[in-house]
Amino acid sequence: MASFDVIILGSGPGGYVCAIRCAQLGLRVAVVEGRDTLGGTCLNIGCIPSKALLHASHSYHEVHENFEKMGLMGGAPTIDWTKMQAYKQDTVNGNTKGIEFLFKKNKITWLKGWGSIAASGQVKVGDELHEAKNIVIATGSEPATLPGVTVDEQVVVTSTGALTLPAIPKTMVVIGAGVIGLEMGSVYARLGTGVTVVEYLDAITPGLDAEVAKTFQKILTKQGLKFILGAAVQGVERTNAAAKVIYTLRKTEAVETLDADVVLVATGRKPYTHGLGLESLGVEMLPRGQIKTNHFETNIKGLFAIGDAITGPMLAHKAEDEGMALAEILAGKQGHVNYTLIPGVIYTAPEVANVGATEEQLKEQGIAYKVGKFPFMGNARAKAVFQADGFVKMLADATTDRILGCHIIGPGAGDLIHEVCVAMEFGASAQDLALTCHAHPTYSEAVREAALACGDGAIHA
Ligand code: NAI
Repeated sequence: MASFDVIILGSGPGGYVCAIRCAQLGLRVAVVEGRDTLGGTCLNIGCIPSKALLHASHSYHEVHENFEKMGLMGGAPTIDWTKMQAYKQDTVNGNTKGIEFLFKKNKITWLKGWGSIAASGQVKVGDELHEAKNIVIATGSEPATLPGVTVDEQVVVTSTGALTLPAIPKTMVVIGAGVIGLEMGSVYARLGTGVTVVEYLDAITPGLDAEVAKTFQKILTKQGLKFILGAAVQGVERTNAAAKVIYTLRKTEAVETLDADVVLVATGRKPYTHGLGLESLGVEMLPRGQIKTNHFETNIKGLFAIGDAITGPMLAHKAEDEGMALAEILAGKQGHVNYTLIPGVIYTAPEVANVGATEEQLKEQGIAYKVGKFPFMGNARAKAVFQADGFVKMLADATTDRILGCHIIGPGAGDLIHEVCVAMEFGASAQDLALTCHAHPTYSEAVREAALACGDGAIHA
């Protein structure tokens, strides 16, 4: 029986980051992974392949929309879907191999196979038992489907099937206007698919600042996506090689249908914990299927859980931070995650990013705040590259000027948000950001201008 300080189940961003940090802190670590490649959902069938398709489809869109305007003439490219898929797979391979390299470099043992927890301190992989002082569950999540919807990953697909469709469909219905639905919906819309998004709520992207969500919907509509809001999907029927989506309009209770070549079910994800032996161990679970933890430890001593399998936003970077914090704790140091400052990014074009409170949350909490807003239309760099849609919205405390939240829709939003994250970690005021020199011409000037707008006013507005 091999023996380790820590055995981690799952090699996604939570698991692999935890493993690397444990190894760096001198612990003997093994990671159990049953996939042929490391990296979990994020690297294999999530964040990374979707970013490759977002980039390829955005480039295609740029050629057709903007090249001629810049004097770039000539035959416009056509889509070779097989090649685009190969590019996506190369991107995935490069990243999963990268983790394998990091495992070797840090002397982390990869226990290949699907693992379960045989008893406290014991992990079973295949027929072999391994011993560990501490066990970490980092098994992530899987798509949550709807009652009345059978996923076949051919015509009725989740995000997994949507990444590997055999051909670009003529029509697609996306169920759910959340992150996955809008990222994958905009990929296919840019490649020529007629995309209709059916959403239960009366607005897209629940939880996002309402003003951003409204602008986002307008921009996506301009890009060709259609939205049916306030519509509860009841079921999907297969019809030969296509499908029929049945939904009820919540206001009128009218039942309507929509036909499509492909239906993408993007109605959320649920923790992936089956087959781990948690029931027989008596591990306490929460009503929504997450593992109950206290500072990452379950009710069983020495058994920990992180990432999508526990509460909190289902985001790779949240899992990474938890992995790192837990490694520190297991090595006898301090481990900490600031859950109030986890940024969110939607990788559409334009990108959407946020950190901290929304205006709606501040109102609900009765906090007096001021708003500093700056449109990318006033940003020279954004205008030069045809990306002047959107704005930066900074929220600061009305009395102290401390930054309480920031919401960006515009070019590079996913990168821009991080200067606000750092500022907020340091308890900065909007004025602190406004007094910081920002290089010209950059998109980041729009963040500074929004901070200036919290005070005496933006310059270019
Ligand atoms: P989501 O929770 O973001 O959105 C699901 C949407 O489906 C909601 O708007 C909901 O109202 C709607 N819905 C639910 N039932 C419905 C019904 N019967 N009819 C019509 N609409 C219905 O879930 P999504 O997009 O599947 O993403 C899953 C998780 O993965 C999320 O936690 C997300 O944050 C994460 N993720 C994050 C990414 C990023 O950070 N860029 C990328 C992809 C996923």
